[in-house]
Amino acid sequence: MQYSRRRYYDLFSHFYDMFIALHSLRDEQSTREILVDSAQLEGIAKPYILDICCGTGSLILTFAKRYPKSTAVGLDFSHGMLRKAKKKNPNQKALFIEADAALLPFSNDIFDVVACSYALYELKGAVRTDALKEMKRVVKPGQASVLIMEHEAPKHPIVRFLFKIRMILVGSTDVRALLGAGLEPFKKIFSKVHLLHTPSGKSRLLRCIK
Ligand SMILES: C[S@@+](CC[C@H](N)C(=O)[O-])C[C@H]1O[C@@H](n2cnc3c(N)ncnc32)[C@H](O)[C@@H]1O
Repeated sequence: MQYSRRRYYDLFSHFYDMFIALHSLRDEQSTREILVDSAQLEGIAKPYILDICCGTGSLILTFAKRYPKSTAVGLDFSHGMLRKAKKKNPNQKALFIEADAALLPFSNDIFDVVACSYALYELKGAVRTDALKEMKRVVKPGQASVLIMEHEAPKHPIVRFLFKIRMILVGSTDVRALLGAGLEPFKKIFSKVHLLHTPSGKSRLLRCIK
């Protein structure tokens, strides 16, 4: 099953950036900047930053540009997505690692921020819970945060229908239950969870503290 999901994302990688530009009507970079702002890394000389399910790398490269002295790591299980990410990274500002979000190849308590954008809801139930626990494990204790950006539940019936089809394609049919559950699934894992909405109203950002 994981193999066919990886193949799906490998194929999707060929037109992923174009799909995102069309889908977000060009506000995707400002949304990434909101996430980077929320990490509050200004006081840290050499921050350690992890983006899980990094796709074609746009978010982790935004972090690396903002914090040139950081160690910025993008992780994804799709070879195709990572190939695209590496092409956008000729100066090796970020490191890219092929691995599963449910089994992170890092020791405990090492990152100043762990991000996951537009990916959590695409994970299957058990993998999603494991990935959340892994994000918590590798982030530092204290004020370091796990930042989870997601689309708001689509309200327009046609968009909602397309969203559902995509979730069925990636095997995440339980996503409706998750959307309906609000912050509860996150509060079960993290000690604090703050919810922010982006100014466009199209995305929401959860800031979770270990
Ligand atoms: C919708 S894309 C989001 C990409 C990127 N975070 C962004 O904001 O554009 C979902 C990504 O999650 C990755 N992914 C899905 N399941 C994964 C898993 N179990 N482990 C690692 N990556 C996974 C896919 O390969 C894909 O790149």
